[in-house]
Amino acid sequence: MRDDIKEVYFTEQQLAEKVAELGARITEDYRDRNPLIVSVLKGSYVFMADLTRRIQTPCNIDFMVVSSYGKGTKTSGEVQIIKDIEQPIDGRDLLIVEDILDSGVTLNYLMQVLMARGANSIRLCTLLSKPARHKVHVPIDYLGFEIPDEFVVGYGLDYAEKYRNLPYIGILKPSVYGGE
Ligand code: PRP
Ligand code: MN
Ligand code: MG
Repeated sequence: MRDDIKEVYFTEQQLAEKVAELGARITEDYRDRNPLIVSVLKGSYVFMADLTRRIQTPCNIDFMVVSSYGKGTKTSGEVQIIKDIEQPIDGRDLLIVEDILDSGVTLNYLMQVLMARGANSIRLCTLLSKPARHKVHVPIDYLGFEIPDEFVVGYGLDYAEKYRNLPYIGILKPSVYGGE
């Protein structure tokens, strides 16, 4: 698996430090508000597990699964909810946890849907953001790192469902996905 990685982009330690920093900020901002923290599966599962353990105020957690719309091959648009949040969200303070904001289409759609259900507030925490690829503007409240337009995997992020279990974030060799 390591042979498929061109370069380690963020080490385990760099990730842990950033997660601790984000957790501390979120702890302060949500103290005594009992936020509902929602992970968008699957990509965010590792970040969610690490981040929530750095949040030191009571909270609830939940998960959503949304359909992938075929990265790079289709135009923006439809996002389908495959698995929904299991508790009522009206009046709740929601924190959406994502691994990466790429085009922004997924998040833009989700935030609109959840707001329409009467959430009191919705904020977004994403570990990574690729500004060069944003197609719609999605405000990010808690950001780990901005990255260039490179194919990154690990720490939950996949290429064709592989590499999610890497403990670091790495750049994939172009040869792995049929590049030069
Ligand atoms: C990836 C990533 C984000 C989304 C970002 O998920 O985890 O959820 O794409 O893309 P966007 O900003 O262009 O909408 P993917 O659909 O690959 O599913 P996964 O999380 O199960 O890997
Ligand atoms: Mn995802
Ligand atoms: Mg994916």
